[in-house]
Amino acid sequence: MAADRQDGPAGVPGRGRQTSTALAAFELRPVRVSDAAALASAYRRNEEHLRRWEPLRSELFFTAVGQLDEIERQRDAVDRGLVDAWLLLDGHDVVARLNLNNIVRGVLQSASIGYWVDQEHTGRGIAGALVEFAAHRAGVMGLHRLEAGTLVDNVVSQRVLERAGFERYGLAPRMLFIAGRWQDQVLFQRILHDDPAGPAVP
Ligand SMILES: CC(C)(COP(=O)(O)OP(=O)(O)OC[C@H]1O[C@@H](n2cnc3c(N)ncnc32)[C@H](O)[C@@H]1OP(=O)(O)O)[C@@H](O)C(=O)NCCC(=O)NCCS
Repeated sequence: MAADRQDGPAGVPGRGRQTSTALAAFELRPVRVSDAAALASAYRRNEEHLRRWEPLRSELFFTAVGQLDEIERQRDAVDRGLVDAWLLLDGHDVVARLNLNNIVRGVLQSASIGYWVDQEHTGRGIAGALVEFAAHRAGVMGLHRLEAGTLVDNVVSQRVLERAGFERYGLAPRMLFIAGRWQDQVLFQRILHDDPAGPAVP
């Protein structure tokens, strides 16, 4: 139940005017079990929009039952401190999704971000604002670094990351099985601070 226990933002944290403007009309909060049907219809609505950038999906994935299963698995990861999972909503409709995945502690203190924006809402700064929000969440969790990977031809996502202060630091050949084949990933990171990494490791 950790996702529901997390406090959603009262307003919209972020560093600039543009950040709050882009998200101001919506609710940004942790994913809940009750979002299964809304997520199913968002994935159905955006099937073509997302197909190039995502793993192959089963028919079940586009149903409320399938999404309930996905959310429950994700909540387990949230409970174990491995994931931080957020939705941007317009009423009951999902406008965008943001995950901080693969949260690693110790000497790394890092997470990997993933996001998408409903096709009807792109081009209005929502992804940029969500990436800023991810940096805010990383700060709350005491992380030192965010990383992200994009497909080589995902120039829009690359623009979002570069604008949010991420630096491109490499290319990982054939790293991810996306849209049915192993594809190269352009690797980005943003270092958040230079403070020490918590208590010394025993
Ligand atoms: C990538 C995605 C999240 C961007 O969402 P968005 O809310 O439209 O992004 P923003 O409006 O914050 O920013 C888009 C930026 O790309 C720029 N852009 C748009 N089309 C572009 C193009 N064809 N070439 C280069 N830049 C482009 C915009 O001008 C904007 O940059 P700016 O802020 O400097 O003007 C959205 O298109 C999406 O969901 N894509 C499918 C899933 C996906 O790719 N997820 C990321 C996986 S790494």
